[in-house]
Amino acid sequence: MLATASLDELRAAVREARAAGKRIGCVPTMGALHAGHLSLMRSALNETDYVVVTIFVNPTQFGPNEDFDRYPRQLDKDLELCRGLGVHCVFHPDVQTMYPPDDATIVEVQGLSTILEGEHRPGHFRGVTTVVTKLFHAVQPDVAFFGQKDFQQQLILRRMVRDLLMPIRIRTCPTVRDPDGLALSSRNAYLTADERRTALNISRALFRAREAIESGELSVAEAEKRLVQVLSSVPGLKLDYAVIRNAETLDPAENTGDQLVGLVAARVGTTRLIDNVLISPPGTA
Ligand code: PAJ
Repeated sequence: MLATASLDELRAAVREARAAGKRIGCVPTMGALHAGHLSLMRSALNETDYVVVTIFVNPTQFGPNEDFDRYPRQLDKDLELCRGLGVHCVFHPDVQTMYPPDDATIVEVQGLSTILEGEHRPGHFRGVTTVVTKLFHAVQPDVAFFGQKDFQQQLILRRMVRDLLMPIRIRTCPTVRDPDGLALSSRNAYLTADERRTALNISRALFRAREAIESGELSVAEAEKRLVQVLSSVPGLKLDYAVIRNAETLDPAENTGDQLVGLVAARVGTTRLIDNVLISPPGTA
């Protein structure tokens, strides 16, 4: 496995793989790898011939009062995990490589970037789309793999590659959860045992909403109201939003045939958590 912080070395390796007729897969991450990240890598290894994992804690997607400084960093352990899976290359650039001095260019997907997560984390998605564009130019993958866990992120990135005519296919892979339902996240490392128990309410409430809608027990509006009520009353949990939306546009669900997604963001202690579930239209499950 090639592990490199050098853009030139990365490009030479990818050029060679492509010259050998290999399809290039890319898994962008911020490191602190867990089973969710590993599942993306397994999909990439199954579906492409040369897999590049990128590890870069991207400063521009963190707000001034967010956790950039305390975000977990464990490069050696991450490299071991990648090596163990059979990843071909890990690109772990430093900040100067990704943001040259006087860097002045941004990429922004308007509209979708300012609702939900974007409303609570102004500038976050601009940081994500800018860095992912740079990573895509560095790696030039045929296919890039993202997690459903960050539902709005993968939707925005799909729109970005479409709008900017990037010849890259976006694959979205299912959310990996602990057996009790908690969605894996690098930020779960911040949770105390008590907070972790509190956090479990998020996935539980989402699963219940899915069940209620798919069985026809509650309308979308009723289920959303109950989701908000349930999560607002959990001690130690501060809800940012809990909504049920059209899964393609994130607009409020209008037609009964819409594929839906339930999305929640909440803070537990000092940790901000997000989760979501796909919900089939009522009566089709
Ligand atoms: P990061 O949070 O490290 O996540 C990297 C990828 O892993 C994302 O596509 C995310 O959706 C996916 N992922 C995280 N938890 C998951 C889980 N439990 N199950 C399945 N997939 C999961 O997302 C980012 O980094 C950054 O914003 C990035 C795209 C790398 C740009 O900096």
